[in-house]
Amino acid sequence: MAGSDCSCAECASDECLVEIRGLVKRYGSRKAIDGVDLTVQQGEVLGLLGPNGAGKSTTMAVLSTLTSFDAGTISLCGLRLPRDAARVKRLLGIVPQELALYPSLSGTQNLSFFGRIYGLRGRALSERIARVLEIVGLSNRARDPVRSYSGGMQRRLNMAASLLHRPRIVLLDEPMVGVDPQSRNLLLEHIERMRAECHTMIYTTHNMDEAARLCDRVAIMDGGRILAVDTTAELLKLLGSGVIHLACSGQESMAAPLAELESVRSLDTSDGVLRIRVSDTQAALLEITRLCHERSATIHSLEALEPNLESVFLHLTGKSLRD
Ligand SMILES: Nc1ncnc2c1ncn2[C@@H]1O[C@H](COP(=O)(O)OP(=O)(O)OP(=O)(O)O)[C@@H](O)[C@H]1O
Ligand SMILES: [Mg+2]
Repeated sequence: MAGSDCSCAECASDECLVEIRGLVKRYGSRKAIDGVDLTVQQGEVLGLLGPNGAGKSTTMAVLSTLTSFDAGTISLCGLRLPRDAARVKRLLGIVPQELALYPSLSGTQNLSFFGRIYGLRGRALSERIARVLEIVGLSNRARDPVRSYSGGMQRRLNMAASLLHRPRIVLLDEPMVGVDPQSRNLLLEHIERMRAECHTMIYTTHNMDEAARLCDRVAIMDGGRILAVDTTAELLKLLGSGVIHLACSGQESMAAPLAELESVRSLDTSDGVLRIRVSDTQAALLEITRLCHERSATIHSLEALEPNLESVFLHLTGKSLRD
């Protein structure tokens, strides 16, 4: 692939760049990662979508070679962790959640510092600096000290630093955290441009809109496990035509008559809520309220889920993505 400094057979092909099997990471008795299987193809942006504590950052830290793991196998570009950690590091661009910049230095000076760490010098370095500044739209601010940048601009420079050595895979851990809503769209556009440069990315977020917009496939993660991984369109199909969540009095005795309703396909109970998959949401809402009325069941809550990744997560876990 153009720009790669890796000459392994896997990198010359369109095979999967990242292959994770049975990954386990423990902190004491707690499993932060509990048997994760994931693959990322060349040219793919994979999203890791999950709430606080899901295990997203831990997965990224293990892939970045910053953290050890307890079980499983990890292969990146055909190299194995932990054995080939030093070679793997050179193939990765890492965008940490925390900004790692020197405020008194200019954008160019910061990038020059990071480029040298990757062994870039002279013209090769200055060409790469100019290119990555262009990608993140900071060429006209390159000479200004970073302390004069807005928060969004500092995030963009942080991302630019990860691209200097033309990494095969870029790992972005919640790059939108702390970015105000106005800058968000602009930053998303810059991430899309980064994609054109580096092709393959893993992107963690707890924001479904970002995941749906940026990612080819989304892995829904909770409690250290991957609950589902697919394209957004396929994940939405898990909801069928619609899902309704119902909490009512005498709930246990309501399950059987609800299952008999014409528009109800299936139902189960989770966290005290009946999760009802339906063929037609409007018709089902009418049938359900009518049935509750007939049986004198008081409705505590009745919610038709929007067809989005947030609802898929709610449907899979019974919990909200947001805190
Ligand atoms: N250094 C650590 N020591 C002990 N426990 C840890 C450590 N790092 C993470 N954990 C635990 O591992 C689990 C997964 O944490 P992780 O940071 O990977 O979640 P996350 O999905 O990135 O969450 P967030 O959205 O809050 O960033 C949590 O239960 C967390 O408390
Ligand atoms: Mg995290």
